[in-house]
Amino acid sequence: MIDRFPIPQFNQLTTPFYYYDLEVLRATIDAVKQQVDSNPFQVHYALKANANPKLLKIIKDAGFGADCVSGGEVQAALNAGIAADKIVFAGVGKADWEINLGIDQEIFCFNVESLPELETIHELAAQKNKIARVALRINPDVQANTHAYITTGLEENKFGINLSELDEVLQKVKVLRNIALIGMHVHIGSQITDMSPYADMCGKINELQLHFESKGFKLKHINVGGGLGVNYEQPDAHLIPDFESYFKVFREKLNLRSGQIVHFELGRSIVAQCGSLISKVLYIKKGSSKQYVILDAGMTELIRPALYQAYHHIQNLSSGLPAQTYDVVGPICESTDVFATDYRLPETKRGDLIAIRSAGAYGETMASRYNLRNLPDSYTSDEVRG
Ligand code: LLP
Repeated sequence: MIDRFPIPQFNQLTTPFYYYDLEVLRATIDAVKQQVDSNPFQVHYALKANANPKLLKIIKDAGFGADCVSGGEVQAALNAGIAADKIVFAGVGKADWEINLGIDQEIFCFNVESLPELETIHELAAQKNKIARVALRINPDVQANTHAYITTGLEENKFGINLSELDEVLQKVKVLRNIALIGMHVHIGSQITDMSPYADMCGKINELQLHFESKGFKLKHINVGGGLGVNYEQPDAHLIPDFESYFKVFREKLNLRSGQIVHFELGRSIVAQCGSLISKVLYIKKGSSKQYVILDAGMTELIRPALYQAYHHIQNLSSGLPAQTYDVVGPICESTDVFATDYRLPETKRGDLIAIRSAGAYGETMASRYNLRNLPDSYTSDEVRG
């Protein structure tokens, strides 16, 4: 994989920056399309994972729709040329201007997370004499076996309508004339690598369908959310996530009615492995019992290790020397600004180029200007290789 990185060109660029390998992105998208194209499946790429316009263009050209969680993301999807009728809009706290944007643009669907939100969408749609399409986001109370911070489908999480409130919401839907209930939406969490929570979720969806039908609602659209995980430990051996096993669960376990369409909101699995954060070593600092590699990138560029104790594979692109043990840290004034502890890297020196791998998802989008740093630049392989 190291030869995937154009090191002479990298040396001309100012670090830190994100580097996106478009060959990997295209191969990943092809793998998704192979699984979905002959099924009643529609993928809405989750922009929160990465909203870089250079990537969005490729994703749009593949025919994917967009899953958005803010007015800014809806606008970014539209700017990328994604058709409004392929945009779904989720989020527990949609502001009025964001709802109005969705109504004006006639997006495909709002994923509604509470009764007061439903009433607000109705009110705003009524003012415009329009009908807003909605799916109810149901909290299915399924354990996703992932990090607690990125688990969303448990009763205790803030997301979705709890099963105990569903009937009240359905009663209301019947009288709201400017709302069209077209589907249900479920999302249980992110970075899920074991397929059994998805099978459990399909079981819940099947039960829910019967419940909706018993109340007189036939839903054309079933949105199963996103969450498929990637392999952070060995990115090169698993550049393309296991889409086959993932989609197979839904093909086999969902009891679809005739004409129903299943919607997926995949983010991480589409973009994580194509991205790396490229940084330079500023200093090697020797402590009494440790030695530190101090990078010019930190938690401001990639916050996942600091926020979720996430592991990212790290490579020294400049050294082929025997390995030593380092703590790899950033320059930010926070003790959690650490990418890895006791990490084996080839002997490293000031000026070496470092790649932090699997950083294409929730890297650039979560960057901040803390310490008044600049937001990172980004380059694609097409631009850098020419
Ligand atoms: N749909 C909904 C309703 C979501 O909440 C999410 C992610 C997705 C789709 C996309 O999930 P994906 O396929 O990317 O797993 N910043 C965290 C991840 C937060 C995920 C939030 N929701 C991280 O860096 O791990």
